[in-house]
Amino acid sequence: MLIRDFVPADCDQLVEVLKANLQFGHPEIDGPEAMLRVCDCDAAEFLVAEEDGLAAGLIRGVFDGSRAIVSVVSVHPDYQRRGIGTALVSEIAKRFKAKGANNLSVVAAGNLDLLKKLGFKQTIRIMTAYPIDGVIGESSGGE
Ligand SMILES: CC(C)(COP(=O)(O)OP(=O)(O)OC[C@H]1O[C@@H](n2cnc3c(N)ncnc32)[C@H](O)[C@@H]1OP(=O)(O)O)[C@@H](O)C(=O)NCCC(=O)NCCS
Repeated sequence: MLIRDFVPADCDQLVEVLKANLQFGHPEIDGPEAMLRVCDCDAAEFLVAEEDGLAAGLIRGVFDGSRAIVSVVSVHPDYQRRGIGTALVSEIAKRFKAKGANNLSVVAAGNLDLLKKLGFKQTIRIMTAYPIDGVIGESSGGE
């Protein structure tokens, strides 16, 4: 298993990983174009687990100088329970620590057993506004 930075050629295989795990409900958030934008974002880490020459898993997140937050972890069902998820979380933790992070949160829908095993505690509820326009609304004051 190789954990490495995402490259644009990974897009199609990673879409298959997300689809296989029913994590592709919003292509505009998780699809190829979004992947390329994340790749270009200095605050982001976007890592891929390569197995048998295939992109079998991914993890991505951001460190804003204070909090490090992982937003997606996904390993293709054919490659689960071999330590890939653990290796992805461990490597992104290492990357964020090197940037100065002393904490790591994961926004995770799905299987939490991996995170519990790694010592994560469930703390906050995540509330999501999608699309974002409803939050901006007419009461924001504007220009
Ligand atoms: C969660 C996920 C990333 C784990 O990836 P993985 O490569 O299988 O994880 P690992 O092999 O490193 O598993 C580490 C430990 O997590 C726990 N675990 C992982 N998958 C589990 C499952 N389906 N049921 C119970 N425990 C599980 C086990 O304790 C496992 O250790 P073990 O295999 O020695 O018992 C993967 O199952 C996945 O992509 N799931 C669908 C997407 C999802 O739920 N994402 C949110 C993750 S926070």
